Amino acid sequence: RRRTRVHHFQQWKDAGEKWAMLTSYDAMTAAVFDEAGIPALLVGDSAANTVFGMPTTLPVTLDHLLPLVRAVVAGAPHAFVVADLPFGSYEVSDDLAVASAVRVMKEGGAHAVKFEGGARRAGRVRAVVEAGIPVMAHIGFTPQSEHALGGYRVQGRGEAGEQVLADARALAEAGAFAVLMEMVPADVAAQVTRTLAVPTVGIGAGSGTDGQVLVWQDFAGLSERTAKFVKRFADVRTALSDAARQYAEEVRGGSFPGPEHSF
Ligand code: KIV
Ligand code: NA
Repeated sequence: RRRTRVHHFQQWKDAGEKWAMLTSYDAMTAAVFDEAGIPALLVGDSAANTVFGMPTTLPVTLDHLLPLVRAVVAGAPHAFVVADLPFGSYEVSDDLAVASAVRVMKEGGAHAVKFEGGARRAGRVRAVVEAGIPVMAHIGFTPQSEHALGGYRVQGRGEAGEQVLADARALAEAGAFAVLMEMVPADVAAQVTRTLAVPTVGIGAGSGTDGQVLVWQDFAGLSERTAKFVKRFADVRTALSDAARQYAEEVRGGSFPGPEHSF
């Protein structure tokens, strides 16, 4: 198997093939997902929540994320690795956005960056793309703007659907290689997918997008609570919890370690 490259997503769209993406923040899960054939991994700023225990994605920095990007790239020999630009690393200017994206590629070894925002970020997407860095745009619900958006809410209902389409068009026009839509009505996401030449990725955006993405702790059932759009494909939380209880019990009871675990 060869590494997934940026043009493969376009080939899959043109062939009508759907694909799955997962987040990853460490070498071992990256290796497992890569081996399972997941063609794209996202080192999301959701690491703020899943790795660092922060209440929102706002506090996480490039210095937090870069070691995680390196770990995922090291663990995944085939997947296309996209890394988020964290809040504060790209809003101020095109220059800052390019500098941040360069760090993610140069120090992190990622294959593309993703950042949030609609048509108002088109110029920024263009600046990063002109630096030779593939950009995945992220529209709809954008967690870094949760205070401006008034919390976790579906974006693009009713009339606002036109804005989602306009955002997607502007970002694709600016050179984004893909457009991710989060918490957008399924019919809107499907229409965007039909309209754009470039691939779309959805999370909470229905089945009409070209790709799907989930946070791995959500899809694996490690997260305590998950949103309506998540399907828990495993119950890792119960498996780990049961294992921890059993381990503690065996240590207390003296049955672990046994002779077979001893030198
Ligand atoms: O940070 C993240 O995990 C994301 C996905 C939820 C799209 O941006
Ligand atoms: Na993110």
